[in-house]
Order: sequence, then C-alpha cells, then structure tokens
Amino acid sequence: MDRMESRLKPPRMIGESASFLEMQEHISAVAPLNKPVLIVGERGTGKELVAARLHFLSRRWEQNFLKINCAAMSENLLEAQLFGHEAGAFTGATKLRKGYFERADGGTLFLDELANTDMTVQEKILRVIEYGEFERLGGNETLSVDVRIIAATNEDLPELARDNRFREDLLDRLAFDVITLPPLRERAEDILVLAEHFAVGMIKEIGGEYFHGFSEEVAEEILAYSWPGNIRELKNVIERAVYQHGDNPISNLVFNPFDSPYRPGRKPARAGTEEQADSSVPDLAGLDSYDFKKEIQEYEIRLLQQAMEQNQFNQKKAAEFLNLSYHQLRGYLRKYDLLGQAG
Ligand SMILES: Nc1ncnc2c1ncn2[C@@H]1O[C@H](COP(=O)(O)OP(=O)(O)OP(=O)(O)O)[C@@H](O)[C@H]1O
Ligand SMILES: [Mg+2]
Repeated sequence: MDRMESRLKPPRMIGESASFLEMQEHISAVAPLNKPVLIVGERGTGKELVAARLHFLSRRWEQNFLKINCAAMSENLLEAQLFGHEAGAFTGATKLRKGYFERADGGTLFLDELANTDMTVQEKILRVIEYGEFERLGGNETLSVDVRIIAATNEDLPELARDNRFREDLLDRLAFDVITLPPLRERAEDILVLAEHFAVGMIKEIGGEYFHGFSEEVAEEILAYSWPGNIRELKNVIERAVYQHGDNPISNLVFNPFDSPYRPGRKPARAGTEEQADSSVPDLAGLDSYDFKKEIQEYEIRLLQQAMEQNQFNQKKAAEFLNLSYHQLRGYLRKYDLLGQAG
C-alpha cells in the first residue's frame, strides 16, 4: 500500500488476442492525458498492472506513483491516509502527517477498490479532482496539488450510483475514460501464451533449465477451465505445477490446492442412511419459497463428490459408475470447479 517498486518503466503485459491488443492501444492513447481513468474488471484481470502502465506511459513517469486500497480500512483511517492530518487532529495524531494526495503531488495516485468508500470521502475526492484542493484533517489551510487519479473497481459503479451508494458526480468525473479488462475466459487465445510465460518464469526461479511445454491433455485442461480468478489464478496454478514437476513435463494440474477427501466440512464418503434421508424430497409445506436450481446443484455436487471418492478419484471409473461418458463427467466436474480433486 505504499510506493510501488521504483522500476521506472511500464510493466510488461502479455497477450495477443484482439481484445487485449485493443486494450493496450486504449491505454497508450489515454496515458498522456491529465485526466482521471477508471479501470473496471473482474478480480485478477490485471487492473493494477494497467494502472502502472498508465502512469509509466505518462509524462509523470518520473514522479511518484502511489497506490492505496480503499477497501482495506475504516472510513476515518482512509480519510486520514488520503488527506493527511495536523498534529492533534485526533487521539493518537501526535505529529503532522502528509496524506497520499500530498505525497503524490506531480505524480499519480491509484485508488484501488474505490467502490467501497464512504460518500463523504467520495465528496472530498471529487473536490481534489475538480479543483486540486483539500485540507488535512484538523487543519484550516487549503492545500493545492496536481495529482492524476486512476481508480479501479470490480463492481458495477453505475448500478451503485443508481442505488445511491456511489456519488453520481464523482462517477461522471472518473468516467472520462473507462478501461474495461476482459476476463480470461473471453480471450482464449491468451490463455496458453500466458501459461507458457508464467511456466518459463517459474522454471527460472527454481533453477531449472528448460520448460518442456504442456502435454496436449494438460493444454486442453487449461483451455477448458473457466478461470474465475483470471490471470492471478492462472499464474498460481501454473507456478504450482512447475514447482511440483520440477524439470519433468507437466502431467497434471491442481486447480484447488485445498481439495482433499479430508477437507473439514465435507460430507462423509459412505452413502449411509443419513445421506439417503438427506437426499429425499424435502417437505415444502410451510416454506415461503424454495431455491430449486440451487438445491439441485448442491445435490449434483454431493453425488459427484461421493462418486469420485468411492472411485479413488479416478475419473474414468467414476464416469462408468455414474453411467456418464468420460466427457460428460468432466463437464460436470468443471461446472462445479471440482476438477482439482481429480488426481
Ligand atoms: N497481461 C498480463 N501479462 C502478464 N501478467 C499479468 C497480466 N495481467 C495480469 N498479470 C498478473 O496477474 C496478477 C494479477 O494482476 P493484478 O494484480 O494487476 O490484477 P487485479 O485486477 O488488480 O486483481 P484484483 O482485482 O484481485 O486486485 C499479477 O501477478 C499480474 O502481474
Ligand atoms: Mg488489484
């Protein structure tokens, strides 16, 4: 949450898909302007990297690039961090402290997870964007700064604004330009390119010599997965696989390292009488509503987990047992993110 690594060059971003290249052009076009930029994208899609690129491709690249995570602290602390405080402004404020806006003067301030801020903080941020002005907490003097704001969120800000949970006027100002990062599943051409990039990096890190590439099966599995955690998740899965296989070709991937038959809270493997009672049709009388789809999905998950456990996590055997084709079973496991437990 402080000054980012002081490499004074734009970080590299990997990708070849049309949507990725378009986004890079967008970044290059808006970077030199002294206007706010809003970066929107699912978790792990590269919002922080884009913010850094915007800064290092701007004329401010030699100045400070500061980052603050707005969701990580209480409203009072966030205010004190952003705007600073005078000595004695509140209990514990023994010395004057400059805030992020003051320290980022001349440079760029990256407001990460901006959606979760309080309306009064939003109002003060808007004032800095519009007039470059603010006061330290407990202070009367109005300070002037020249800070470029880059904000990021994985939430739907226009919807929050409609619900009166985000200031419309701040949104209008931030939305001078909005860069929306595509999720990884929407740019399949990039998945293997990125996977290879992370694998080669990890091989170097463990002192290996050579990356053997992915087997066709593993490559297929990488492509078939939906990557809800996007590039960060891909990086973790690939680095874990390289570390587990060392210099040998990668023969399997672990999508969820927590998956284990002994994971606390999992249903017992044996289909006892209790399980059968559990799966019988519930009594719906007296209920206001019943989430049919959710209940069916949970039932499917329980059956899949049991069948996998009973068959020692062998997918072929489990598929036979369930009277499904191998591909049908894989489809279900993928749907419920259960592939990681398949050995
Ligand atoms: N195009 C890319 N090329 C190489 N690495 C990337 C790329 N995009 C993201 N990464 C890497 O993926 C990881 C996640 O990126 P980043 O932290 O920027 O995502 P984020 O959108 O800010 O995530 P979150 O919403 O969780 O904060 C980082 O390790 C980053 O270096
Ligand atoms: Mg981030």
